[in-house]
Amino acid sequence: MMRLMAVLSGMLLFTSVANAGPSSLVAFDLPTLGLLQTADPARGEELASSGKCSKCHGDAGVSDDPEDVNIAGLRASYIYKQLKDYQDKNRDDKDMYKKTRDLDDQQMADLAVWFASQAPASVAADRNADPAVLKLVFNGDPTRLLKACASCHGRDGRGGQFDHPALSGQYPEYFIYTLTEFSEDDRTNDVYSRMRHIAQELTEEEIEALASYYGAAVPEEEE
Ligand code: HEC
Ligand code: HEC
Repeated sequence: MMRLMAVLSGMLLFTSVANAGPSSLVAFDLPTLGLLQTADPARGEELASSGKCSKCHGDAGVSDDPEDVNIAGLRASYIYKQLKDYQDKNRDDKDMYKKTRDLDDQQMADLAVWFASQAPASVAADRNADPAVLKLVFNGDPTRLLKACASCHGRDGRGGQFDHPALSGQYPEYFIYTLTEFSEDDRTNDVYSRMRHIAQELTEEEIEALASYYGAAVPEEEE
């Protein structure tokens, strides 16, 4: 019995070590920043067209299907990191892996600057602005060690530096989906587990409320 236990715990140790890869291979070092700085949005637009990104993200990164993911106006550095993470399988998605596996770094940077330069969807006019939501957004909750969303995602929700994405103008369905994935450790490409820690502290109701604070208006015929 003891021997079996030892074998079992050895196996557990082995699997956890095997899974403990870095959450992302992207570092915002000089070569990466240089690549983004010299990336060409016109080439990005061509790649978006030949790669048929519009099939799922709309012509210019805003889809008219609220089940899709809006990518217009996200930071170029964030988009670049996500594309690399999909390619490296640090962020797991079959469609996006297929879309990125044959791209080189230059092409991903070109795509990133093009989508970053497109106008984001506007936030729903009747956004949820309950005091409890505003408190989470602008003050956080020290009793749960929750920092304000605005401190990383910007006071206007338009994003911060490097890997801090814009949240404003995202469709609520994806917003809720991806936060739930963070909270359940199904999305693990956030460096230092920053979003996993936060998502795990939020209740389902809070996640829904935050989605309808930041979220884009859902096109009427789809409501
Ligand atoms: C077949 C549908 C499909 C196509 C085509 C597609 N995507 Fe995606 N994309 C998705 C889905 C679904 C997700 C969200 C997946 C997840 O949960 O990780 C996504 C996520 C993304 C994200 C991350 C968004 C975020 O907010 O984190 C970026 C960036 C992106 N796609 C860029 C592109 C680019 C650039 C192309 C064209 C080269 C493209 N996509 C083509 C379906 C698609
Ligand atoms: C300490 C900084 C920090 C704070 C505070 C923070 N976030 Fe984030 N958030 C991040 C980072 C970094 C990412 C991107 C992770 C990655 O994929 O590299 C992210 C990603 C996200 C995403 C996914 C966006 C997308 O397009 O896929 C959502 C949604 C999100 N955060 C919501 C929130 C909400 C809501 C709050 C407040 C309750 C919050 N965040 C607080 C750092 C933070």
